[in-house]
Amino acid sequence: MKDKLKKIQEQAMKQIDAAKEMGSLNDVKVSILGKKGELTSVLKGMKDVAPEDRPKVGALVNETRESIEKHLQEAKEKMEAKELEYRLSTESIDVTLPGTKVKHGSKHPNAKVLDEVERIFVGMGYEVVEGPEVEFDYYNFEALNIPPNHPAKDEQDTFYINKDILLRTQTSPVQVHQMEKGKLPIRMIAPGRVFRSDEVDATHSPSFHQIEGMVIDKNVTFADLKGTLEEFAKELFGDDVKVKFRPHHFPFTEPSAEVDVSCFKCGGKGCRFCKGEGWIEILGCGMVHPKVLKMSGIDPDEYQGFAFGVGLERITLLKYEIDDMRLLYENDSRFLSQF
Ligand code: DAH
Repeated sequence: MKDKLKKIQEQAMKQIDAAKEMGSLNDVKVSILGKKGELTSVLKGMKDVAPEDRPKVGALVNETRESIEKHLQEAKEKMEAKELEYRLSTESIDVTLPGTKVKHGSKHPNAKVLDEVERIFVGMGYEVVEGPEVEFDYYNFEALNIPPNHPAKDEQDTFYINKDILLRTQTSPVQVHQMEKGKLPIRMIAPGRVFRSDEVDATHSPSFHQIEGMVIDKNVTFADLKGTLEEFAKELFGDDVKVKFRPHHFPFTEPSAEVDVSCFKCGGKGCRFCKGEGWIEILGCGMVHPKVLKMSGIDPDEYQGFAFGVGLERITLLKYEIDDMRLLYENDSRFLSQF
C-alpha cells in the first residue's frame, strides 16, 4: 500500500511538473484527486484494509493527498504569475505613440454668414422668425401687392404646385405672416430657403437663401431704415465701408431702394471684383407700402415700417471672395474644410 501511494505521488509530481497550461494542470488534478481519480480509488479501497491498520494507512493517504495538493497549488501560482507577466509585457501601452487623428468638421460658409447676420440684428433687438417654404400664392404675391399679371408670377420663374400653391420665390411672405399675427411693434428677420426656376450657373441656382427683415412701429421713417442698414453693412463688412442707397422699385415698398457698399477689395477705386464699378449691390429695401400694411390689417395712418431682403449666398460669395455659387452647393470637403 505504501509503495502504491508513493508511486501515485511520484507520478503526480511528474505530471504536475510537465503541465504547461492551466488545462493540463486541471487534468492532472482530476485524474488523481477527482471522483474517479487514482488516490480516491485508494481511499475507496480502505474497507479492505485491516481495521487496526486503517489509521496509519489513512494518515498516509492524507499526507499523500496534501503533498499533491500543495504541489498543484504551487504549480498553479507559478503559472498564473507567468501569465500575468506575459500579459503585462504584451499589453503595455506606448504613451509616446501619436494618437488617432479626429477629423474636425467645419461650418458651411453660408451658415457662418447667417450666424453673423443674426448676431447683428439680434443685437439690435430683432427676433428671428421662420415661415413655410411651400406657400400660398396669396402670401408670396398678392398680399405683397404683386398683381396677377406681374412677370415674377410667370411659370418660368415660379415653381407652382397648383394654381394657388407654390414654392416661395422670396422670404417676403414671412412679413405678411408676422403682420397677420397682429402683435405690434414688429422687429424681425426671417432667414430661409427660396426657389426660382433658374438654370444653374456661377450666380444662379433654383434654390438659394434670403434673409428678410421688417420693422413696424409708430413714427418709423426712411432715416431709421438708412441708419439700420448702414450699421448692418459696417458690422458685416467693416467700419471703412461706405453705403449708398439707390432708388429702385419693388411692389411691396414705397419708396424703394437698393443698397450698395463700397468695394471692400479696392476701397471704391474699381477692380475686377466690383467689375470696375467701385460699388457692390447687397440688398433691396424700402418703406412698407401702405397697401401691404392695410391688407394685413394694420392701419397705415398709425403704423409705418421698413423692410429689406438680403441674398445670403451673395453676401457669402462677397465676404469670402468666392467666384462661383455652385461651390456652395457641391459639398466638396476640399472646399468646405477651408472655412
Ligand atoms: N423680395 C425681394 C426679392 O426677392 C427682396 C426685397 C426687396 C425684400 C425689398 C424686401 C424689400 O423686403 O423691402 O428680390
